[in-house]
Amino acid sequence: MSKKAIITGSSSGIGYQYAKYLSKQGWYLDLISQDQKRSKNSEENLSYEKANFHVYDLGLKESINSIINTIDVPDLIVANAGIAINGVIGELNPDEKEYYYYLMCGGVIDLIEGYVPEMIKKGSGRIVIISSIGATTAMPKSSLYSSIKAGIHAYGRSISSELKNENISVTVSLPGYVRTNAHKRAGLNHLERKVPNWMWVNPEQVVKETEKASLRGKSEIIPGSVYKLVRPFLNFKPAMRAWRNLTKRS
Ligand SMILES: NC(=O)c1ccc[n+]([C@@H]2O[C@H](COP(=O)([O-])OP(=O)(O)OC[C@H]3O[C@@H](n4cnc5c(N)ncnc54)[C@H](OP(=O)(O)O)[C@@H]3O)[C@@H](O)[C@H]2O)c1
Repeated sequence: MSKKAIITGSSSGIGYQYAKYLSKQGWYLDLISQDQKRSKNSEENLSYEKANFHVYDLGLKESINSIINTIDVPDLIVANAGIAINGVIGELNPDEKEYYYYLMCGGVIDLIEGYVPEMIKKGSGRIVIISSIGATTAMPKSSLYSSIKAGIHAYGRSISSELKNENISVTVSLPGYVRTNAHKRAGLNHLERKVPNWMWVNPEQVVKETEKASLRGKSEIIPGSVYKLVRPFLNFKPAMRAWRNLTKRS
């Protein structure tokens, strides 16, 4: 029997490629994103009869509650929806901060915890969380983003260990720069020119490596060989200086 996945942030980038990847294997898909028009476009592009498309603002608690109440427990959750947040310290107002935290951390936890009891009853399940390499290194002018991604990374790592005996795997993916719409949407177009080519990974590669790691029950994956190589050095001063120069935000 075909398996069933819920993917958040499925209208573009990594989430869309995840949906495409699983569609080739015959999965049933519940695909969630926020913007009606982009959802429709992704539906036309994916053109896959085993997919249901849902429109929710995942920065709101009632959306998560509604999803849990209306969509049956899946075999795989891909918690991917998110946006790049750019801004110097103190720039965002408290409501914005709360909203972003819920979208990429609190809401992800609520979504997972809404389904985990059923997964435990079933005796199986997989959870994939798309965090960021920014969870592990300083990101000046994106400190909120970095802290949110660090929070969800820590949560994922912890429940990965906690759920091992329940036959539920939890994998946190920590991508570096991925060629998607994220930077343009955040007004960071200049990064597409400034960040050198070798630092970009394609969303297809992120999905391939993340899915492989999840199937192997790995708790963490850093997609792309460049990032695997530099990760141990990212918190050394010279490496951090070089990283900052290459990725400076305007
Ligand atoms: N691109 C990178 O360099 C990079 C690096 C590390 C980690 N990541 C992470 O990867 C994940 C996917 O990003 P991406 O790069 O693939 O960006 P993307 O192409 O902009 O896709 C983002 C997806 O998230 C959805 N989304 C955003 N806000 C939402 C909301 N409030 N409610 C529901 N859905 C929402 C978008 O839906 P709509 O189209 O409806 O807005 C879209 O489907 C994010 O969590 C991001 O932080 C990206």
